[in-house]
Amino acid sequence: MNRRAKKVSESKTIMSEMIMPNDTNPINNLMGGNLMRWMDIAAGICAGKHCEKYVVTVTVDSVSFQKPIPLGDVITIECSVTRAFSTSVEVYVEVFSSDIKGGNSRRCNDAYFTFVAVEDDTKKPCDVPEVLPLTAEEHKRFNEALLRRQLRLLQAGRLKPEEAPELREWFFKQNN
Ligand SMILES: CC(C)(COP(=O)(O)OP(=O)(O)OC[C@H]1O[C@@H](n2cnc3c(N)ncnc32)[C@H](O)[C@@H]1OP(=O)(O)O)[C@@H](O)C(=O)NCCC(=O)NCCS
Repeated sequence: MNRRAKKVSESKTIMSEMIMPNDTNPINNLMGGNLMRWMDIAAGICAGKHCEKYVVTVTVDSVSFQKPIPLGDVITIECSVTRAFSTSVEVYVEVFSSDIKGGNSRRCNDAYFTFVAVEDDTKKPCDVPEVLPLTAEEHKRFNEALLRRQLRLLQAGRLKPEEAPELREWFFKQNN
């Protein structure tokens, strides 16, 4: 298996959509579920490009909808890998919106998605390339990804507290 570390820029994915009538809720704003679907697609493309494999979504961290996105707006979804583990990779997703003329430009949402790469034939999890962080921001997201992973695996009952020393240390630091 090719475990060559790959730069974040190699799989950066940007997707745009215009909000059409079929995408909205009864008050003419984008329906949350439709936004999550697009986020999942864009993030999945990003993860797939990094892994050079088909990927499946295994978790989505909390997504909140703080700013309504009206009919006719154009959203841009930007996705970057943050860190890869053995068979999984975390992707950071940001959603921006503006009107078609570029007015009322704003950042609407962000979320972390985790994908698992699978073999074409068996559909079993397979190893993924490491992520090579280069910028200060990429390093920050890379380092913090370990804490987010430990929290997810603890919540899923896949890790015991004693198997998450970095997360325990982080909590200890916050409280002292
Ligand atoms: C994702 C899936 C292949 C994992 O299968 P599994 O038998 O749990 O496999 P493993 O135990 O080897 O785990 C595979 C990876 O998933 C990660 N994982 C599993 N559950 C997780 C969770 N709740 N949170 C974060 N990561 C998780 C593991 O940590 C492992 O990653 P790593 O190798 O980088 O450490 C399986 O759960 C699946 O097919 N799920 C459905 C995916 C899907 O169809 N998604 C679309 C929406 S329905």
